[in-house]
Amino acid sequence: MIITIDGPAGVGKSTVAKLLAQKLKYSYFDTGAMYRAVTYAFLKNEIDIDDEISVINFLENSFNYEIKEENGLKFYFVNNEDVTEIIRSNYVTDQVSLVSAKPFVRKMLVPMQRKFANDKDMVCEGRDMGTVVFPNAEIKIYLTAKISVRAQRRFKEYIEKHPQDIATLDKNQILQDIQRRDEKDSTRKISPLRKAKDAHHIDTSNLSVDGVVKKIIKKIKKQQKIKFAYRFVKVVSRFILKTFYKYKVYGKENVIKGAAIVTSNHVSFFDPSALTVAIDDEIHFLAKESLFKVPILKNLIRALNAHPISGKESNIQTIKEVKNILKTGKKIVIFPEGTRTDGKITKLLPGVGFLISLSKCTTIPAYIHGAHKVWPRGKKFPKLFGQISCIFGKPIRFEEFEKIDRNKRIPFILARIENELKNLEKWAEDGFKGEQP
Ligand code: DC
Repeated sequence: MIITIDGPAGVGKSTVAKLLAQKLKYSYFDTGAMYRAVTYAFLKNEIDIDDEISVINFLENSFNYEIKEENGLKFYFVNNEDVTEIIRSNYVTDQVSLVSAKPFVRKMLVPMQRKFANDKDMVCEGRDMGTVVFPNAEIKIYLTAKISVRAQRRFKEYIEKHPQDIATLDKNQILQDIQRRDEKDSTRKISPLRKAKDAHHIDTSNLSVDGVVKKIIKKIKKQQKIKFAYRFVKVVSRFILKTFYKYKVYGKENVIKGAAIVTSNHVSFFDPSALTVAIDDEIHFLAKESLFKVPILKNLIRALNAHPISGKESNIQTIKEVKNILKTGKKIVIFPEGTRTDGKITKLLPGVGFLISLSKCTTIPAYIHGAHKVWPRGKKFPKLFGQISCIFGKPIRFEEFEKIDRNKRIPFILARIENELKNLEKWAEDGFKGEQP
């Protein structure tokens, strides 16, 4: 498993990443040290960093980077020279931002970084770990802290190593240096310092290292529990649906990659599981708050990433939640009829139109067929056998609605989805014959 930790200079990334790795018994990878080592090698070998060809040639043929570990400490080697100390010197620090801003340097280093982490359990620390190098990392952390706190930490760190310099070391100068590096790292064109959309943000200004690590471990445990529960429910659901209900999925190619709102009809308690099985990506649901009080069902829907809605259309919390889910490239399923029906598509509630209009997101219509016969409303338990299918209609892009006056947009969106669902319904009821709408 890869855990990424990104953040600006002096935020405590290294200390936190080291302790976290130690507690989890993971390896630890400081990519900043790698950029520093490359910078040192360029300086030593008088490589002109603006000369792309010389840089690439040097990195390809004359740069050998090794990390060795002794008594829990890391030592960095460039072409067999121990550079652990020198890469932290001002001589290197002054140049490293310039070197790391070169696209051709990053292009060479990123694959090396991925290779280092290959199949390992690793805490990877840097600026672009969660955004560029490991975009699929299981856990992403983004650390920040007030600049004054970061400068104070750097000051303390330096004085611990060089107590003789306490009288001459200028705190203000440290603060300015950090500011300058922040500016360079976050404004560069390639891989600027950014929080990945799905990263957890932790402000470390008022936290101890232990406090930050505890917070991260808590987040990891929570995420692992959710992931495990989701996978478990998905496997069990697939088995039940395929074995007892001849479950079939049509139009899977319409499930586009990335963020989308899946609007599905709602006919039975099987629907969330059926959609979870039909969609490869992990999906999220909006579910009525009252369902979170039903024993067993509440555990099932929680495992399936359900988020409660109170039923009020303008529920600000729901809007925020939906936007956050979509922002991280995930899909959210909404049952726009609001409640289970008797099988026929009924009028859609305006809430879904409102959410689509606000998020400007693509909609994927989904129609679940047959589940109402297997587990109709009012029945406590489903029939043991039957036939359930799920059909995905063509994605409806938001651009379709953009030209429509804002005030008229919501009824238009609702009508469009309702129409699409009814087409899918007709196709299913006519026996899935001919081309799928
Ligand atoms: O974390 P550090 O101060 O040792 O990083 C040294 C420099 O390398 C810093 O200017 C930012 C840059 N860096 C980067 O651009 N991308 C990374 N993944 C890690 C560090």
